[in-house]
Amino acid sequence: MSNNIVLIGFMGAGKTTIGREVAKLCNSMLFDTDKMIEANYDMSVNEIFGRFGEEYFRECEVNLCNFIRDNVKNAVISTGGGIPMRYNLKKLGVVFYLKAPLEALIERVEDDTINMRPLFSRFEIIGDLYNDRIREYEVQADYIINALDDISEISNKIYSYIKGN
Ligand code: S3P
Repeated sequence: MSNNIVLIGFMGAGKTTIGREVAKLCNSMLFDTDKMIEANYDMSVNEIFGRFGEEYFRECEVNLCNFIRDNVKNAVISTGGGIPMRYNLKKLGVVFYLKAPLEALIERVEDDTINMRPLFSRFEIIGDLYNDRIREYEVQADYIINALDDISEISNKIYSYIKGN
């Protein structure tokens, strides 16, 4: 088993922020899928969507997950919110679903971050997207965590689940 800690959840759930804290607590590396893809292309996710289309981005995500599955151990993996629709993240490690109601996530995602998230700016689809996703998040989750709790509380909880394993 890879022993990775994998964070999943909808946009705005705090996967990157929590990932950073958990990585510090575990003294391990953080792999953030959006940031890794952006670094590889030297483009933002938004630019990749605009230039190559969503399907291309999804293929990058799947390729990256296969790379992580084959090469990464004892790390924290923060995942883009769409990955569980294409990939079973249990293949990468123990999965923590950061769960929050859509209303809270919309409030959290400030205007500037909306511009960085091509799908979040399409308000007409966001409710359907959320409802489709949450089913898959729950199927893949080993643990479900309340994403509205305090950052340090969430991070310590994840850390203690892992230490207890
Ligand atoms: C997406 C979520 C984003 C990013 C892309 C698509 C999604 O990541 O991968 O904009 O489909 O939910 P975050 O979940 O980190 O915002």
